[in-house]
Amino acid sequence: MSDHNQVQMTQMNYSKDRPKAANPVKIEDLTLRDGHQSLFATRGRTEDMIPVAEKMDEVGFWALETWGGATFDTMHRFLNEDPWERLRTLKRYIKKTPFSMLLRAQNLVGYRNYADDVARAFVERAAANGMDVFRTFDALNDYRNFETVVPVIKSCGKHFQGCICYTMTEPRLGGEVYNLDYYVKKAKDLEAMGADSICLKDMAGLIAPYDAYAIIKALKEAVKVPINLHSHFTSGMASMSHLKAIEAGVDIIDTCMSPYAYRTSHPAIEPLVMTLLGTNRDTGFDIKSLAAINEILEKEICPKYRHILDDTKLSIIDINVLLHQTPGGMLSNLVNQLREMDALDKIDQVYAELPRVRKDLGQIPLVTPTSQIVGIQTVNNVLFDDENERYKMITGQVKDLCFGLYGKTAVPINPEVQKKALKGYPRGEDPICCRPAQVLEPELKKAQEDVKGLAVDLDDELIYAIYPVTGKRFLQWKYGKEPVPDDVKPITLEQVKAKKELIQKAVAGKLVEKTEKEAPVKGDNLRKFNVFVDDDYFEVGVEEIGGAPVVSYIQPAKAVAPAAPGAAPARPAAPSAPKAAAPAAARPVAAAPAVDGTPINAPMPGMIVRFEKNVGDKVSKGETVVVLEAMKMENALAAPVDGTIKAINFKSSDSVPKGAVLCVIG
Ligand code: CO
Repeated sequence: MSDHNQVQMTQMNYSKDRPKAANPVKIEDLTLRDGHQSLFATRGRTEDMIPVAEKMDEVGFWALETWGGATFDTMHRFLNEDPWERLRTLKRYIKKTPFSMLLRAQNLVGYRNYADDVARAFVERAAANGMDVFRTFDALNDYRNFETVVPVIKSCGKHFQGCICYTMTEPRLGGEVYNLDYYVKKAKDLEAMGADSICLKDMAGLIAPYDAYAIIKALKEAVKVPINLHSHFTSGMASMSHLKAIEAGVDIIDTCMSPYAYRTSHPAIEPLVMTLLGTNRDTGFDIKSLAAINEILEKEICPKYRHILDDTKLSIIDINVLLHQTPGGMLSNLVNQLREMDALDKIDQVYAELPRVRKDLGQIPLVTPTSQIVGIQTVNNVLFDDENERYKMITGQVKDLCFGLYGKTAVPINPEVQKKALKGYPRGEDPICCRPAQVLEPELKKAQEDVKGLAVDLDDELIYAIYPVTGKRFLQWKYGKEPVPDDVKPITLEQVKAKKELIQKAVAGKLVEKTEKEAPVKGDNLRKFNVFVDDDYFEVGVEEIGGAPVVSYIQPAKAVAPAAPGAAPARPAAPSAPKAAAPAAARPVAAAPAVDGTPINAPMPGMIVRFEKNVGDKVSKGETVVVLEAMKMENALAAPVDGTIKAINFKSSDSVPKGAVLCVIG
């Protein structure tokens, strides 16, 4: 391995004062954003970043990723935290290292293209609140979606890092769409737009080491600006891809602190530091100070998030990525969605349908939000389609995609699917081919009107503009207009400890303080009683021993399968463990009073976005009555019959279980 190994062996040590490398690899740390997003469902709280913030500022990272992606959504929705406040708070502890954010271009930190006025205001406020590097991507790699945000990033004097989303249609780099030429062309486009650096964003961990080498080499020859590789570990290849990219001359690599590394996250920094130690690409990092940060993360922070980690499998890699190219986050979403619908047995059908839907929708890369759009549509097709009709329930987002609201797809959308999706589409049945935001009316003024008296500043207004339903709910929590629910409050280490002890007790069968004395031998005075509890029937034996009657055994006579011949005698059934807390979407709701008529039931668990009709309104069959959000995709539910709305049982932002009667038409 040629000059990389020309190690300055003399005086080699771990400390920071070792000789500086000729061309050190720069590192962006992702622990505080993509790390907890990938492993802990983005649930990391600001208070759990502060204990390591100052130490991380000392490491020498090129940038710290602190924001963007799903943080904005999760913070205001699940953590009762103001996303803007996180930036200002962390900035007080991290004074030297630039902050980086993931910006979904015209999608900002949401799931659709927002109007230009909202996009401009958002970037300005992000810069003013402390953001330095804007890592900008578009899910379709349609850089017309960069045209509004990039000039604002530049005029704020900030770093514009343009992304190329890495995706494939073949098992390895190549094929007709996503080949080497495609990536080189995209890099040149970004450089022409004024990119200060270019990031190859491998969100699914698909890039194979030798493909990484080939692309990085080609990009280094094609453009002058620094190249950054962002690769998730999901498939197990990323550490190898990092090394090959470094050999090909990559400038910046993304990693996580080891407790937040691997699985669907990123390779850890520590092995890379040791790998490069003393070479001409030595990071220069002090491994001991990294260890000190890890100690804090392991002992004080991670225990609070451990329960979120999906560690049901022993393997830390997901070979589905190698088999089906399904990104990790997308896969867990699909599994959750199927589980909530009691349809987990259909996962293989979902795997088979997914590439078909992706191809129908223009062979788009799978990254937020397109991964959700393709994923949920796939689930809908598997669950609701029959042999006579495909695409029976098309989500609002697929309709938007077919209209062109997300941008230009890599290959044309299947015209039949497009036509079906756009039938009756409110913006028109003919798709657009211009820059999507060009057809969007300004949105900021209306948003400001909507939250007048609630929002205090532009930051508040933007939370609402981007997330109208949950954003408004958050502002009500923030200003004490609605009580903050317990499930969005933080947990402490003490609570974690208490819970752990309780679980251990339960596992040991000691949760119920039952006597551990052995049962006495049954005597001659045993009397048997039949006991009925609802539908259950028990046979109870009672024997008097001097004083009060003592229950000597309880044998359920029903609901217990007859023991197989030769099987061990059945032990009394342990009381069934309390069911795990139901997910928010399935929270029980008060039973609605019965009204005669035709109900519209929730076909899946979700959150009510809005009712488009009121009680008393006339509706005709096929007209949209209610919009239900499931897995962040909007599903328009239509009236099954002509009639009048007799009852509406929920309101906007209510979570509903599958089958809930949303409204009744009479
Ligand atoms: Co990522």
